[in-house]
Amino acid sequence: MKKILSVVGARPNFIKIAPVARALKKYRKEVKHILCHTGQHFDKKMSEVFFEDLKMPKPDFNLGVGGGSHAEQTARIMLEMEKVMTEVKPDLVIVPGDVNSTMAAALVASKMGIPIAHVEAGLRSYDKTMPEEINRIVTDVVSDFLFVTEHSGMHNLRGEGMDDDKIFFVGNTMIDTLDENYDAVEGCDITDRLGLEKERYIVATFHRPSNVDDKGNLEALLETMGRLAGERKLIFPVHPRTRKNIKAFGLDRLITKNLLLTDPLGYIDFLSLMRYAELVITDSGGIQEETTYMGVQCITVRKNTERPVTVDVGTNHLVGTGMEKVEKTAMDILGGTTKPGRIPELWDGKAAKRIAAILMEHKE
Ligand code: UD1
Ligand code: UDP
Repeated sequence: MKKILSVVGARPNFIKIAPVARALKKYRKEVKHILCHTGQHFDKKMSEVFFEDLKMPKPDFNLGVGGGSHAEQTARIMLEMEKVMTEVKPDLVIVPGDVNSTMAAALVASKMGIPIAHVEAGLRSYDKTMPEEINRIVTDVVSDFLFVTEHSGMHNLRGEGMDDDKIFFVGNTMIDTLDENYDAVEGCDITDRLGLEKERYIVATFHRPSNVDDKGNLEALLETMGRLAGERKLIFPVHPRTRKNIKAFGLDRLITKNLLLTDPLGYIDFLSLMRYAELVITDSGGIQEETTYMGVQCITVRKNTERPVTVDVGTNHLVGTGMEKVEKTAMDILGGTTKPGRIPELWDGKAAKRIAAILMEHKE
């Protein structure tokens, strides 16, 4: 019996691995799937809630590494991962996404000579000030299976000289999860619970260090959201990094009446909130993709995106970090100037099944 070890650590990882775990169950007579949570994210609302919402079994290992500087966090994950991999002796390690847990686990596996599959390979922002860009590049370089979500990923990997035999265009497992849960998302009563009129409110999320770790940038962002909240109710589920910084920078005074700050929301509640929003404003990676899939207008407050298909094909407006442009684009969208979009190729709910089938074909 072969052993596959998947390693997750942060909120988007749980959502990306859930369908892979499910797809591997089909091969349970040949493969034992083991899940390791590094503990990078640890609050109930950043972690446990996703295991509940997505009906995932509890991880077999939880390393409890928590936060810290990049070096501290990465090093702690590597030290603990090495112990787990020594104990489990997996035949393959799967790492999704681009967080520190992804890169740390990939590095450990590569040094131990264990083959690696990277789910969501090839994405590039071409901005090395983003910690995730370093994680993506390093993870791809040491991976044996590069599972790609959009055409740009194929192009990027080929441009970096990756062996064509390793690259597989399979679609998007984050969208598999959304597809699987779409009835629950549409049927969820979160708008009633928050007293919102469907298609007449804005949802915002921010957690990128470039937006929230600098006092001036975070202040400008909150001021802009405050003004938009004068136009429509604005719901802002706050990431722990952002919550800490609002407090540390003394910016609580900018939380005005219509600006509804909540704790991070569970998966079904949050997706439903986006599904019925008039507009989503974000700096998240995954949210750019989910809004494109659902056809919801999305403003991305970043200078670049590693997910260009959401701009080229989808409903994403990549506007940069200047607040004037953010506000003007938002006002245009609220005024009816929207962008039509389509669902990108292979975002069809079957990516994880393709991944499992490819891994089984190559298992010897
Ligand atoms: C991480 C990822 C980022 C991803 C995001 C998803 C890296 C480098 N960054 O950023 O790519 O978009 O997750 O949400 O891996 N914290 C809590 N409770 C939690 C989780 C975090 O209090 O459950 C605190 C941490 O202690 C730390 C801060 O939030 O002080 C940031 O956490 P960390 O995991 O280092 O980075 P994120 O900003 O969450
Ligand atoms: N998400 C959620 N609740 C929230 C905010 C986000 O369930 O309050 C989901 C979101 O829909 C997506 C994932 O978390 O599936 C994205 O995570 P995040 O934005 O933290 O990370 P990124 O994608 O930027 O790495």
